Amino acid sequence: MSHGARPKPAISRKSLNLSGTIRIPGDKSISHRSFMFGGLASGETRITGLLEGEDVINTGKAMRAMGARIRKEDDAWIINGTGNGALLAPEAPLDFGNAGTGCRLTMGLVGVYDFASTFIGDASLTKRPMGRVLNPLREMGVQVTSADGDRLPVTLNGPKTPNPITYRVPMASAQVKSAVLLAGLNTPGTTTVIEPVMTRDHTEKMLQGFGASLSVDTDVDGVRTIRLEGRGKLTGQVIDVPGDPSSTAFPLVAALLVPGSDVTILNVLMNPTRTGLILTLQEMGADIEVLNARTAGGEDVADLRVRHSELKGVSVPEDRAPSMIDEYPVLAVAAAFAEGQTVMHGLEELRVKESDRLTAVADGLKLNGVDCDEGEASLLVRGLPSGKGYGSATGAAVKTHLDHRIAMSFLVMGLVSEHPVSVDDATMIATSFPEFMDLMTGLGAQIEILESAAA
Ligand code: S3P
Repeated sequence: MSHGARPKPAISRKSLNLSGTIRIPGDKSISHRSFMFGGLASGETRITGLLEGEDVINTGKAMRAMGARIRKEDDAWIINGTGNGALLAPEAPLDFGNAGTGCRLTMGLVGVYDFASTFIGDASLTKRPMGRVLNPLREMGVQVTSADGDRLPVTLNGPKTPNPITYRVPMASAQVKSAVLLAGLNTPGTTTVIEPVMTRDHTEKMLQGFGASLSVDTDVDGVRTIRLEGRGKLTGQVIDVPGDPSSTAFPLVAALLVPGSDVTILNVLMNPTRTGLILTLQEMGADIEVLNARTAGGEDVADLRVRHSELKGVSVPEDRAPSMIDEYPVLAVAAAFAEGQTVMHGLEELRVKESDRLTAVADGLKLNGVDCDEGEASLLVRGLPSGKGYGSATGAAVKTHLDHRIAMSFLVMGLVSEHPVSVDDATMIATSFPEFMDLMTGLGAQIEILESAAA
């Protein structure tokens, strides 16, 4: 989001019978990569269904600053890329706003070039750890100048000839995996990434689609070895971006919780590295019908029909975390209305998202009357299906810490709580899901942006 934008609080109130059919905007991960790979490839890339959220637009601006030509014609974004290895030195710092994915992946993409590139972002991004990407880049020969603790602003200077490395990703992170692979695109020889726990595989699939020489071997324990031959040719592609399952999560959970609801969500990406929330909600008793399952552009896609359901608490296993890492805030809200308790394990990565999401969720739940325990890397929620006493009669607002998913999750909570639920700021929702308010209110949700600045 733009620096210093005035916060706008928002409030949501008890609602009934959400109904209708909606189309969720394009997947954020695939949209970032479409701009990046299209901007790098030779020839023309044509993208439809792109998410036009602030995060993705910042990635487009960065690619433009490095030589890609990008324009919009009707519903399509047309990109003429520089050709692999031919990015230009950006003349000004690249501002990624709120976006960890845009920033970290671009650090890999351009960091190994033999010129300087500088990365900046908003207050949230400036707090987030960049060492996880900077360390492998250092091994490849990149000189790094960064603020204390490897935070932004960061300046990278690549070597004359980058060093191809074999890198075992130390945490479950698609961003780290991707940054190393993207650095490998402009490195002679084979760059190898070993991924002990599988994370979203959009980088691998899309690079193969653009013509990169990339192979993936998976051993009996599920450990993946990804090998990329550097300095090959990438060729522009036609991409139709499917709907974002992480944005889908908000109307989906709202429809499950609000009595009388029946909502259909069209064109949702069903890549198995992204469907952990749907599986968990189904285990909780959710009525989610998967319709028209199909393949589009090499990805699984389906429509989802969601009806109000009585949920029961479950234990969510640690190994499911990578496939639903962005969905825990809204799952915690669903758990607050389930019968019994829900325990979520393996949440350490939530501490380094747009906010410390584990603390932000637990604080927001407690503020609104939910009984929960925050552990080091776990969350336990004791549910109360009636929502009696939930919300804040005095209008006390959840602190969102510039985190779009915290804002949207608690606005969903207000739709089923006895009292309204308020959030201190909703402006940053535009980073990932600018249509959130309109789509939700169109289904019948009582959500309102308040124009006055938050306290
Ligand atoms: C993303 C990877 C995940 C996810 C983020 C998008 C990506 O981050 O939380 O929203 O597009 O690669 P981590 O790699 O930090 O887990």
